[in-house]
Amino acid sequence: MALRVPAHLSLLLALLLSCDYAASATKFTVGDAKAWNPNVNYTKWVNKHKPFYVGDWLVFYYTKGMADVVRVDSDAYEKCDASHPISNYSKGRSYAFELNETKTYYFICSYGYCYQGMKLSLKAEKLPPPSTPPSKNSVSSRATGGVLALAFAALIRFLFL
Ligand SMILES: *[C@@H]1O[C@H](CO)[C@@H](O)[C@H](O)[C@H]1NC(C)=O
Ligand SMILES: *[C@@H]1O[C@H](CO)[C@@H](O)[C@H](O)[C@H]1NC(C)=O
Ligand SMILES: *[C@@H]1O[C@H](CO)[C@@H](O)[C@H](O)[C@H]1NC(C)=O
Repeated sequence: MALRVPAHLSLLLALLLSCDYAASATKFTVGDAKAWNPNVNYTKWVNKHKPFYVGDWLVFYYTKGMADVVRVDSDAYEKCDASHPISNYSKGRSYAFELNETKTYYFICSYGYCYQGMKLSLKAEKLPPPSTPPSKNSVSSRATGGVLALAFAALIRFLFL
C-alpha cells in the first residue's frame, strides 16, 4: 500500500500538468499527414486549424534535400521570392518554429514548389486572458483540469483524513 500511493498521486499530478500545458500552447504539424510538401493547399490547412496563438509551435516535416522552410515578408510570399529570407532552414527532416509574436508569419519553399502552393501564411493572435472563454479547446481542457483537481482533492482526503 505504501508503495502504491505515490504512483497514484504522481499520475494525477502528471495529468493535471499536461492539461495546463495543453491550454497554454499547441504544437501544430504543418499540413497534418501531408506535412510540408508540394501540391498541398496550406490555405485550407490554416482555415481548418485557426486561430493560432502566440506561444504555439509549427512543426514542418519534409523530405531531406527536397524542401526547405524559408521565412519571408508578405511581398516575397506573394512572389515566391526566397532571395532575401528573414530566416531559412533546410537541415535534417523537420523544423520547429515558435510563433512568439503577434503578427502574420509567411513561409515558402525555395525549391520551386512555392508556385504550386507550397507556401504558408498565418496570423498569430494574442492569447486571450483566461477569464474570457477563448475557444472550445481551452475551455474543455480547463474543465477537465477542474474535474481532475476535484478527484485529486478527494483522493488526498481519502488517503490522509
Ligand atoms: C486553396 O483553398 C482555398 C480555400 O479553400 C481556395 O480559395 C484556393 O483557391 C485554393 N488554392 C489553390 C491553389 O487551389
Ligand atoms: C539561407 O540563408 C543563408 C544565410 O542567411 C544564405 O547564405 C543562403 O543563401 C540562404 N538560402 C536560401 C535558399 O535562401
Ligand atoms: C521571437 O523569436 C525571434 C527568433 O528567434 C527573435 O529574434 C525575437 O526576438 C523573438 N521575439 C520575442 C518577443 O521574444
